[in-house]
Amino acid sequence: LRILVASSEAHPLIKTGGLADVAASLPVALRQLGHDARLIMPAYPSAQRQLRASKTRCELRVPDARTSVRIIEGLHPDHDLPVYLVDAPDYFYREGSPYTDISGRDWGDNPERFLLLCRAIAQLAMGLPAVGWQPDVLHTNDWQTGLAPALLHDQPGRPATAFTIHNLAYQGLFDRATFDRIGLPAALWNVSGIEFHQRMSFIKGGIVFSDRVNTVSPTYADEVRTPRFGCGLDGLLRQLGGRFNGILNGIDYQEWNPTTDPVITRTFDAEHFAMKVENKLALQHEFGLPRHETAFLLGYVGRLVEQKGVDLILATLPVLLQDPNIQVILQGAGDRHTEQALREVASTYPRQVGVFIGYDEERAHRIEAGCDSFLMPSRFEPCGLNQLYSLRYGTPPIAHRTGGLADTITPVATDTLAAGTATGFLFERSRPEELQAALDQARHLYREQPEQWRRLAVTGMAQDFSWEASAQRYLRLYEAALEERQAQTD
Ligand code: ADP
Ligand code: GLC
Repeated sequence: LRILVASSEAHPLIKTGGLADVAASLPVALRQLGHDARLIMPAYPSAQRQLRASKTRCELRVPDARTSVRIIEGLHPDHDLPVYLVDAPDYFYREGSPYTDISGRDWGDNPERFLLLCRAIAQLAMGLPAVGWQPDVLHTNDWQTGLAPALLHDQPGRPATAFTIHNLAYQGLFDRATFDRIGLPAALWNVSGIEFHQRMSFIKGGIVFSDRVNTVSPTYADEVRTPRFGCGLDGLLRQLGGRFNGILNGIDYQEWNPTTDPVITRTFDAEHFAMKVENKLALQHEFGLPRHETAFLLGYVGRLVEQKGVDLILATLPVLLQDPNIQVILQGAGDRHTEQALREVASTYPRQVGVFIGYDEERAHRIEAGCDSFLMPSRFEPCGLNQLYSLRYGTPPIAHRTGGLADTITPVATDTLAAGTATGFLFERSRPEELQAALDQARHLYREQPEQWRRLAVTGMAQDFSWEASAQRYLRLYEAALEERQAQTD
């Protein structure tokens, strides 16, 4: 199959979260299965700098565009993956985050920026003579690319379309005046189109107009069909019936491999699990904490947003840190208040808490490798990649039983410990006392039953969350989308 994957970010060209990892590693996995998958995304400065063998392919005619729009074609920096960059300098040639300015505010022209991206995606999906390639399937991801299927749905000769929801909480909602300004077809303003409570919704474009829709874990697919997790779209998702499902993300086992990782202090594998401790000592040093081999070292890496439940960690710290043999390392950026709160706990507990505010990919590897256990108290988690990285690095996760966390972690219990199937700790409700109880359970096992702890960690290391199985499921999704498309044209 010829598959065009469209995304607003892809690692390492630009990344703010898990979408970037998926957008780069899924097409690579599809290519390994023999399919012609390609990627399209905006030409941010960092993407342009890293693209290999890049050349300008053609100029696009885009209604109302403020600047010229070109398609640059090149190769992913690390893989044999063709990448198309939508080069529209006035829209995308901005340093820093793809979505916000340096103060963390959304760019005011985001609707124009991502509509322009969607128009370019739609044109490439219809086949551009200068490019000489048309996909059989267009696979769009999250709200930023959600209008592409809406623009395409009534075009004869369009490819089949699949849309993936990586996070239903981000919907790309804008007011009616914006809709009128940006020049979308008036017919889309409709509750069975992209209208959502008197606003326009980019994500509805993907959900309503794609031949198939999925999200990134089976449990999150169930959750978003309920009012509690559905963010107002649960009814629509229920209506999709069998056209909507959950496919667990894979991870890139080359990038995240403790036996070869070049940025960690000491590589290790399950047979040499004891060597992991060297990473712990180096990590304590890196974060200015006293080096204690026996301390129970907990880690957190992630965006600092309400979703991730960092407030639950903050709420449990005063009790937890009464135990002088516990240390916590936290890395993240986002919400300014949470950033400030983290800096404050680090200065209150200089011997027990290490904090890095910012984004640092290599340090994230060292946290996964050096910690004893990884914290993921997310309120909701469509899939979550960090728990998969932590399993791989022998760092059992402590997580809330939700979404992809529930699907990927086998919790410690009497029977799972006895059977040797446990890989981490799950708590049921997003409450500090429940996180606290899971932490106590983990600390107890770590200290009192070191052999059981080792078994827990190496069982996690042996799990297979590689892309191959998930890429096969995406192929089935694409085939179903093609059949649906075929049925429409017959
Ligand atoms: P989400 O996509 O909701 O942010 P995921 O767990 O799917 O959550 O993916 C997060 C990805 O972003 C992981 O690869 C994680 O390591 C990375 N990440 C998030 N924040 C940081 C940070 N401050 N420094 C380094 N990596 C980070
Ligand atoms: C989103 C979700 C996260 C998921 C990632 C990749 O950002 O918050 O759970 O792993 O997308 O699909």
